Amino acid sequence: MKHKLIISSLFLAASVSLSAQKNATITVEADKGTQIIPKEIYGQFAEHLGTCIYGGLWVGEDSPIPNIKGYRTDVFNALKDLQVPVLRWPGGCFADEYHWMDGIGPKENRPKMVNNNWGGTIEDNSFGTHEFLNLCEMLGCEPYISGNVGSGTVEELAKWVEYMTSDGDSPMANLRRKNGRDKAWKVKYLGVGNESWGCGGNMRPEYYADLYRRYSTYCRNYDGNNLYKIASGASDYDYNWTKVLMDRVGTRMNGLSLHYYTVTGWTGSKGSATQFNEEDYYWTMGKCREIEDVIKKHCAIMDEYDKSKNVALILDEWGTWWDEEPGTISGHLYQQNTLRDAFVASLSLDIFHKYTDRLKMANIAQVVNVLQSMILTKDDKMVLTPTYYVFKMYKVHQDATYLPLQLECETVNVRDNRTLPLISATASKDKDGKIHISISNVDVKNAQEVIVNLPGVQAKKAVGEILTSANIADYNTFENPDKVKLAPFKEAKINKGVLKIKLPAKSIVTLELQ
Ligand code: AHR
Repeated sequence: MKHKLIISSLFLAASVSLSAQKNATITVEADKGTQIIPKEIYGQFAEHLGTCIYGGLWVGEDSPIPNIKGYRTDVFNALKDLQVPVLRWPGGCFADEYHWMDGIGPKENRPKMVNNNWGGTIEDNSFGTHEFLNLCEMLGCEPYISGNVGSGTVEELAKWVEYMTSDGDSPMANLRRKNGRDKAWKVKYLGVGNESWGCGGNMRPEYYADLYRRYSTYCRNYDGNNLYKIASGASDYDYNWTKVLMDRVGTRMNGLSLHYYTVTGWTGSKGSATQFNEEDYYWTMGKCREIEDVIKKHCAIMDEYDKSKNVALILDEWGTWWDEEPGTISGHLYQQNTLRDAFVASLSLDIFHKYTDRLKMANIAQVVNVLQSMILTKDDKMVLTPTYYVFKMYKVHQDATYLPLQLECETVNVRDNRTLPLISATASKDKDGKIHISISNVDVKNAQEVIVNLPGVQAKKAVGEILTSANIADYNTFENPDKVKLAPFKEAKINKGVLKIKLPAKSIVTLELQ
């Protein structure tokens, strides 16, 4: 990328307000697409944490809150509209303390447990395997089961796989039938442990590599169900973990996970989700974009061992992590979600699209009421977050062909020595040949005129939607749920293969060329 201008002042807010309008140029190579953007890049994650499951997804059939078989109707409909491709469950850290047999059978007989990872909340196991897999069926998404390696046994995990996927006259299939489900579910994705370097057992990679080999051996393919096994991978910059796993496990795994959070650090305050200044905002953009470098470095290691790219990189946790909202339960990771979070989503997704030769899935953390959620709920109320709207706008890119593009724009230097381009973009061509372009103007003060060259593209108009708001810290509340929402976007004109867009400050658009 060519840097037209580098503003190196620490007082970035003052610097970027010097000019009223900026310019950027994008060239989309519409005939050069070879790589499909797997829909799984738009994956979600639901953990037994705070009110993600209980109150968020599930209220039970007897609840006064409107529900479909126990799933909240409002949340279910919002997720259906999002075309969730894959849902990871039951954790996270929770997964390595979860004993699946506690979550089957008559609800009144299910034992309770303490959710040690997340505030010591009492978990009554009323949402278990049946409730999760039935939800996935209703949403039309792939389930991604995260298995317990940290505190569970090989036998326990092997039996869970049998319970979910065996259609034969097997002991676990018969137990499932006794519990009301005749036909096996299809379960594709199986995580063999989670964060095994931390909450999943505090292991060394060498030890975990052997455990992965052992546990995964007994996770069988029953009756036409083919498991896609994912090893617990590195956190952020831990390249040694990836190296050891590739060396010692290699193609015994289908995928190797990676976790990367946009977070200020793991000790002390992480900063407020809603109270921040421009410098904090630009720092956040720089930190979220650093994931590109992290992905590249993990991919380079994987390439050394696996040139044919048989093992996928699976980014099964990503997103922003701020301080919990004041007054909420400690350990429940409930945070608000502003337009800043929406930019973290759009910039991250733009990056993910580029690496889908190796990166085959990403699961934002988490779907409801936890960290960078799509949805927040309170009693019978629900709000869609700015991040939800990015996922909604971007769903046109699911399973579309990635179109390479060149981007020239201004950059700024931000805290922690990062250089931040003020424009981010991605483009794809869907199965019907329709081209979609998403562009984010990160600049918090200045509009940008973006020229998009579209050599060889015969389009006459561009229609789409925009996400913006008066302030970068704006968010939706239960009292004012529509403060930040999508609106039709009309400031795009095509003339002789050149698209001109007037992009307001701090805005994200997705356009369809027609
Ligand atoms: O998403 C919250 C937690 O973050 C997950 O449980 C864990 O895997 C990670 O540390």
